[in-house]
Amino acid sequence: MLIKMPKSWEISENRTTPETVFANRRAFMRGVIGAATIAGTGVSLGQSAAYAATDDDTMRYPAPRNPAFQDADRPITDEKLASTYNNFYEFASHKQIWQAAQALPTDPWTIKIDGLVTQPRTIDFDDLLRKIPIEERIYRHRCVERWSMTVPWSGFPMRKLVDLAEPLAGAKFVRFETFHNPEIASGQRQFWYPWPYVEGITLAEAQNDLTFLVTGAYGKPLAKQFGAPLRLALPWKYGFKSIKSIVRISFTDERPVSFWEQTNNREYGFWANVNPNVPHPRWSQAVEEPLGSRDRVPTLLFNGYEEQVAELYKGMSGRSLFM
Ligand code: MTE
Repeated sequence: MLIKMPKSWEISENRTTPETVFANRRAFMRGVIGAATIAGTGVSLGQSAAYAATDDDTMRYPAPRNPAFQDADRPITDEKLASTYNNFYEFASHKQIWQAAQALPTDPWTIKIDGLVTQPRTIDFDDLLRKIPIEERIYRHRCVERWSMTVPWSGFPMRKLVDLAEPLAGAKFVRFETFHNPEIASGQRQFWYPWPYVEGITLAEAQNDLTFLVTGAYGKPLAKQFGAPLRLALPWKYGFKSIKSIVRISFTDERPVSFWEQTNNREYGFWANVNPNVPHPRWSQAVEEPLGSRDRVPTLLFNGYEEQVAELYKGMSGRSLFM
């Protein structure tokens, strides 16, 4: 039986600082990469990202921005804030996990693609990047805890991986799984959680234009606290659906049961589409608090992406679509 522990998900006032609006992205990137230092730690964010830039990385990042996703109608969140306020329960159930996450070995990294596919395989992350070109997209990112960010992610549409996997006719869902290594991820020694972290979406959702497999952020390969080397971004769903550090992608005819659904199915459902009118049992979803801002802004249906995703849910009604 699972023991339910309270989650430390409340945003505290002292985590918010004035927002920086970036007029020139390249100037911003130079500033952050060259000089960012986290107050009190003396550790530069450039180092904290803890990736060894290879020639391939130098060629790939910053990736060209896709003009269709260049404006999220919000200022981009300061990189320092976004990368020091993270949920990654494998490393602890608080937000300051970025240093602990540096222990995760990400090179080499393989991803198993299996289930209802023509040819199950295990693919090396670097080989994947050689097969599929990356681009940059600016997405909103909204957590059910009410904080939000706007992040320039780099990566590729999930649809391209679906094409590569060649799912069989019976495949209806995609199940994602994170690494399991309690030796280096101390959070995974917390036995009351159903490790490894699992998430799932429908095949139709996986093939939607917005569904993005992320390999980088802020013009660089993905920092470990963001879920290096490969994570999901589903900007119209609550952040917990955007699984980090993926090691396995399975195509299945059964709806996957996610980590949070297993932990507490009264609070976390399968669909988890953002809806300001459907409160979570512990948090109203009417407004959100962008990181770095003291303002509360109204939350939008499907997090503002209704035009792109409403079609997916046509003919399906009911509250469960939103939690
Ligand atoms: N993926 C894994 N493997 N482990 C996690 O704890 N947390 C989720 C999601 N993906 C999580 C995860 C939650 S609750 C949120 S809100 C987002 O990651 C946070 O992403 P960020 O830290 O990049 O903002």
